[in-house]
Amino acid sequence: MTQRRARIAGLGSALPKRLVTNDELSKTVDTTDEWIHSRTGIRARHFAEGDETASRLGATAAERALAAAGVDPAAVDLTIVATFTGDQPLPSTASFLQAHLGITGAAFDLAAACAGFIYALEIASTQIATGGAETALVVGTEVMSTYLNFDDRTTCVLFGDGAGAAVLRPGDEPGLLGSVLENDGRHTGLLQIPAGGSRAPASETTLAAREHFVHMPDGREVFKRAVRGMTEAGSRLLEKAGMSLDDVTLLVPHQANARIIKAVADRLSFPPDRIYIDLEEVGNTSAASIPIALDHAWREGRLHPGDVVMTVAFGAGLSWGANLIRWTAEPPREDV
Ligand code: ACO
Repeated sequence: MTQRRARIAGLGSALPKRLVTNDELSKTVDTTDEWIHSRTGIRARHFAEGDETASRLGATAAERALAAAGVDPAAVDLTIVATFTGDQPLPSTASFLQAHLGITGAAFDLAAACAGFIYALEIASTQIATGGAETALVVGTEVMSTYLNFDDRTTCVLFGDGAGAAVLRPGDEPGLLGSVLENDGRHTGLLQIPAGGSRAPASETTLAAREHFVHMPDGREVFKRAVRGMTEAGSRLLEKAGMSLDDVTLLVPHQANARIIKAVADRLSFPPDRIYIDLEEVGNTSAASIPIALDHAWREGRLHPGDVVMTVAFGAGLSWGANLIRWTAEPPREDV
C-alpha cells in the first residue's frame, strides 16, 4: 500500500491596505530610511487598521489559498493558526477565523513566534499522513503593529502586519519531505512581551512601564543566534533528508532582515539567485512571513511542480526550524 503523504495544494496571502514607508515612520520615530534600509533591507511595511484583525487577515489569506487549490472551504477539517498577536487571549484566533470562513472541524492556535508556520506545517502534514485530517488549513497571521513600542526605535522599525495560508491535502507523492523543529527556552528574555499574561497581568504599572510591547534588549545577540539557528536547521534537515543544497530549487527564509538572510546564505554557500526575498515592502511579519513569501514566490512563477523548496526561520522562544517541501502545485490562474 502506498504511504499517504501531505502536499501543499494552494497558497494565499493578505497584507493590510495601509503601507507605511520608512520616510513616513521617520515623521514620528527618531529614525531615517537610510538607517533602516542599510541595516535591514526594509523600505516599508503594512499596518492593519479597523477590521483588519489577525483572524480577518488570516481568513482572507485562507480564502485565496482555498480558491487557488480549488478546495471547498467546507472540506477543511483541521485549522492551525500560528500567531502571537491573535484577536484576543480567549478564544483562539483559529475560532474567529473559522467563523469568518463559516467552517467547523478541529482548530487551534500555535505559539512558536517566527517559527510558528514551520511548526504548524509539520503538525498538519503529520495529521494528514496518519489519516487524522483530510484537508488542513495552515495559517500564519500577525498584527504586530499593536505590540510595537514606537518609542523603541530599534525594534518598532522591523515589523509589519499580514497573513499567509496553505491548504494541505493527501497525496501519493511526498510534498512535505521533512522538518526540523527546535526551541531553547533558556533565552526567553532576548525577545518577549513581558506583561499581559498570567505572570504579569495587565495593570496600571505594567502599562506605564510599556511592558505590553515587544522587548528586544539585545538585537545583535538575536542577530547572531538567528544566523546560527537557521544555518544549523537547514543543514541538519538536508542531512536528514539525504539531500544537498544542489537539490534545493528555492530557499524561502523567514523575512526578518536581509543581512541575516545574506549571512545564512554565505554560511551555507547558497547562491543568492535561488533565495526568495520580499521583505523590502513587507517587513518582519513573524509567523506570517514564510507563508506570505511562499505565496508571493509561487504567484510570481518562482515555484513549479517538482521543485524543492526549503524554509528556515528563527524567533522568540528561542524557537527555530526548517521545512523541506517538494512542490506539487501548478501556479494559480491570475484571477484566484
Ligand atoms: N534609527 C536610527 N538609529 C537607530 C535606530 C533607528 N531605528 N535604532 C537604533 N539606532 C541607533 C542606536 O541608538 C545606536 O546608536 P549609538 O551608537 O549612538 O548608541 C546605533 O543605532 C546602533 O545600534 P545597535 O542596536 O547596535 O544597531 P545594530 O547595528 O545592532 O542594528 C538591529 C540593530 C537592526 C535591530 C540588528 O541588531 C538586528 O537586525 N538584529 C536582529 C533582530 C531581529 O531581526 N529581530 C526580529 C525578531 S527575531 C527574528 O525574526 C529573526
